[in-house]
Amino acid sequence: MQEETLEMDSGKGKVYLGDNSLADFCTSLAGISGKILVVCDPNTVRACYPAVADLLPGHGLHTLGLAGEEAKNILECVKIWNRLTELGFDRGDCLVNLGGGVVTDLGGFAASTYKRGIRFYHVPTTLLAMADAAIGGKTGINLQGFKNQVGSFQNPKAVVIHPPFLESLSEREIRSGYAEVLKHYLIHDASAWRNAAALLDLPMNWDGIVRSAVKIKLHFTEADPTEKGIRKALNFGHTIGHAVESYFLAKPIGAQLLHGEAIAIGMVCEAYLSMQRQLISLDAFTSIWETISKVFGRVDIGAETIPDIGKICLQDKKNEGGRVNATLLQDIGSYLLDQWLELPDIEGSLVAYSKGFPTLY
Ligand SMILES: NC(=O)c1ccc[n+]([C@@H]2O[C@H](COP(=O)([O-])OP(=O)(O)OC[C@H]3O[C@@H](n4cnc5c(N)ncnc54)[C@H](O)[C@@H]3O)[C@@H](O)[C@H]2O)c1
Repeated sequence: MQEETLEMDSGKGKVYLGDNSLADFCTSLAGISGKILVVCDPNTVRACYPAVADLLPGHGLHTLGLAGEEAKNILECVKIWNRLTELGFDRGDCLVNLGGGVVTDLGGFAASTYKRGIRFYHVPTTLLAMADAAIGGKTGINLQGFKNQVGSFQNPKAVVIHPPFLESLSEREIRSGYAEVLKHYLIHDASAWRNAAALLDLPMNWDGIVRSAVKIKLHFTEADPTEKGIRKALNFGHTIGHAVESYFLAKPIGAQLLHGEAIAIGMVCEAYLSMQRQLISLDAFTSIWETISKVFGRVDIGAETIPDIGKICLQDKKNEGGRVNATLLQDIGSYLLDQWLELPDIEGSLVAYSKGFPTLY
């Protein structure tokens, strides 16, 4: 992968992409003062930490008690705060978050709140975290089954993207990350969407895709770091998608959906609502429905789940005055912010999804 450095946070932080990015980053930390704590989860400590262990200057290691969404909670955060306290970390010291979106969201939150904020770096190890979660400075944890209920906006000092980490990732996790890439295309890049829609399955080479996804994400987050305006475009698919994800989080692990799998359902439902409001054509909706079902299959969400998913949408943190705020599509490659959804809209789209949109075809 060709070396490239992108600016973020008005030049205060950087995204490093390229074959040497990881080694260069580790070497650069040797030149800074202060202690370093690396945060991993039980999978990334096995699959990814060995690649940095010898390169990083003297550091401590903290491994979360479990992997995946269930780790994104206040108890795991307290364990990180405790560890930082025991090791005597102060504002001159830093955290390196080595993992997927759960580690970057949780580790970023722990760092941004410990002693009112210490420096942190993200080294994303999943497609989802490289293409999306590690970029843009949103940190957070889940609370009472609601996604990202507590969090902060705080950019890492650097994001270091090393695509070889993807080699140990399961195909299911790769697909999950691809959902956020497709979302970036749907809101911002119609030509990339058409190329993705023409494929029979997943792309083969991720380097260029990660690079383009990072640039799209930065386009929105740099212009609007705290989501007052255009950054809301990135929420396309996430109003209904987060509610679907939250609903299934309460199920046994085997029945849960991965983040991207839930967002894929949310994108189809919100594209359907865009079509119902005559913002996009039936052809555009069909392209979205067919492409997403080709990659993710058609999930049987079950009619009995729909009222509960609707109720979870009413808790979404973007809502105002009890109304559900969503980003809809205006066309493939463009979006419309601040569209207000009523409960019957949300439930109707989920019912139509669960039946495979029989009235349209
Ligand atoms: N902050 C943001 O802007 C933002 C944006 C999108 C998503 N997110 C959040 O990101 C999270 C999802 O991220 P995710 O999909 O990366 O999940 P994740 O962090 O749970 O990682 C998925 C799984 O892959 C394992 N794993 C990670 N890297 C690996 C590797 N290289 N090899 C083998 N296994 C590896 C993990 O241990 C985990 O089991 C969600 O909580 C979501 O809310 C945040």
